[in-house]
Amino acid sequence: MRREYIYRSFERFWHWTQAALIMFLGVTGFEIHGSIHFFGFRQAVAYHNVAAVALLILIAFAVFWHVTTGEWRQYLPTKQNLRAYVKYYITGIFRGAPHPTKKHVLSKLNPLQKIVYTGLKVLVIPVMVVSGLLYMFYRFPQQYEVVGLNIGGLKTIALMHTLGAFALICFFIAHIYLITTGSTVTSNLKAMISGYEDVSDESESKRHTEAAQQQTSIN
Ligand code: HEM
Repeated sequence: MRREYIYRSFERFWHWTQAALIMFLGVTGFEIHGSIHFFGFRQAVAYHNVAAVALLILIAFAVFWHVTTGEWRQYLPTKQNLRAYVKYYITGIFRGAPHPTKKHVLSKLNPLQKIVYTGLKVLVIPVMVVSGLLYMFYRFPQQYEVVGLNIGGLKTIALMHTLGAFALICFFIAHIYLITTGSTVTSNLKAMISGYEDVSDESESKRHTEAAQQQTSIN
């Protein structure tokens, strides 16, 4: 076995902070929605607003990091190994088959992860941010009922925001399950904590060939 560095420090900080903020926004958001009772409505609104601003700041840093390091290329969808992964997740995973490819610092995401994460980044998160900001500022300043933005009412915005929240919950549940499907039950989790993942030496040369091929296709 050999240890390979997969996730850099900012990436891990961003991942865990984003996870914590989204979970907190989910809890406070669904209290605002009326589904759960935990902090009380007023506190839930106040906490939700603070966490939302923190998430926006984190997103700004994450965008900067992805652009300046070129890491955004990792998310570009590809058809390479797509069939193999669909087959793996439908049947192989339940028979203990090996992953079709191995993770590498140059290629961390499998083709299905690329599609799902890109969808989150270009669709779900922007929907949450835009609808959340419209929700926050649709009457701004709040006193005198001044209508800051000319958007009839909150119905559509609230619906978009809540649908996005459900999409994030579905992603979260699938994500927790998939975390446990690495080479061992905890290997993915440990990698996102320490940055390092244990990889077996026998698959090393194969992995390097795959990574080189994937990098060539990215370029
Ligand atoms: C930058 C991101 C976000 C912003 C700016 C934002 C902002 C807001 C605002 C202003 C409200 C209304 C609060 C009120 O009634 O006064 C709200 C409600 C809500 N938020 Fe967020 N939010 C964000 C992210 C999230 C995330 C990530 C989730 C879920 C994981 C979430 C779930 C909800 C839910 C479920 C509601 C209640 C919707 C309803 O019943 O109408 N929000 N959000």
